[in-house]
Amino acid sequence: MSTAGAPPFDSKEFRSLFGHLPTGVVVITGLSTSGEPLGITIGSFASISLDPPLAGFFVGRSSRTWPLIAERGSFTANILGSAQSDLCWKFAKDNNEESRFSGLDFGVSTNGSPVLPDVVATIDCTLDSTRSIGDHDLVVGMVTDFRVRNSTQPSMVFYRGKTGDARIES
Ligand SMILES: Cc1cc2nc3c(=O)[nH]c(=O)nc-3n(C[C@H](O)[C@H](O)[C@H](O)COP(=O)(O)O)c2cc1C
Repeated sequence: MSTAGAPPFDSKEFRSLFGHLPTGVVVITGLSTSGEPLGITIGSFASISLDPPLAGFFVGRSSRTWPLIAERGSFTANILGSAQSDLCWKFAKDNNEESRFSGLDFGVSTNGSPVLPDVVATIDCTLDSTRSIGDHDLVVGMVTDFRVRNSTQPSMVFYRGKTGDARIES
């Protein structure tokens, strides 16, 4: 029998189980208050409400980048294409010294956040609210603009630790 309050399985198994549930992949981009471009790879991004238009994601409270983006109060979700696994891993790695944007020719969205090259679509948000849940924060954004930029490529799917392709035969 498990101890009260403790999970009945280990966190490795929990992660591995959820690896069986495919997700899309976005890079949440924004700027620090001093204008430095910032970004994090996120698989939990989803639409939340149509009226008002809200979208959000769950971010670990150990994230170093999210608090810097949140301080400015706006962000952009960049939906990755299936051929963009380099961007997926680049924005998930701790590079310490080097900016995740080094060598990237990025654009600017209507709210000033970086737009990564050749992404499928972007969704601009202003920060609506955050709520602490377990060891993550639920971040809710008010959608202020959205653009399909490159719909000829299939979107990325993340499944069992690997990136793949969201094409569905009709
Ligand atoms: C496909 C994929 C999906 C991810 N999804 C999330 C997520 O939804 N929430 C989260 O907090 N981290 C997620 N991560 C992990 C972060 O990208 C990673 O911890 C990153 O180093 C955080 O950077 P930071 O400490 O600079 O904020 C994901 C990573 C990958 C590769």
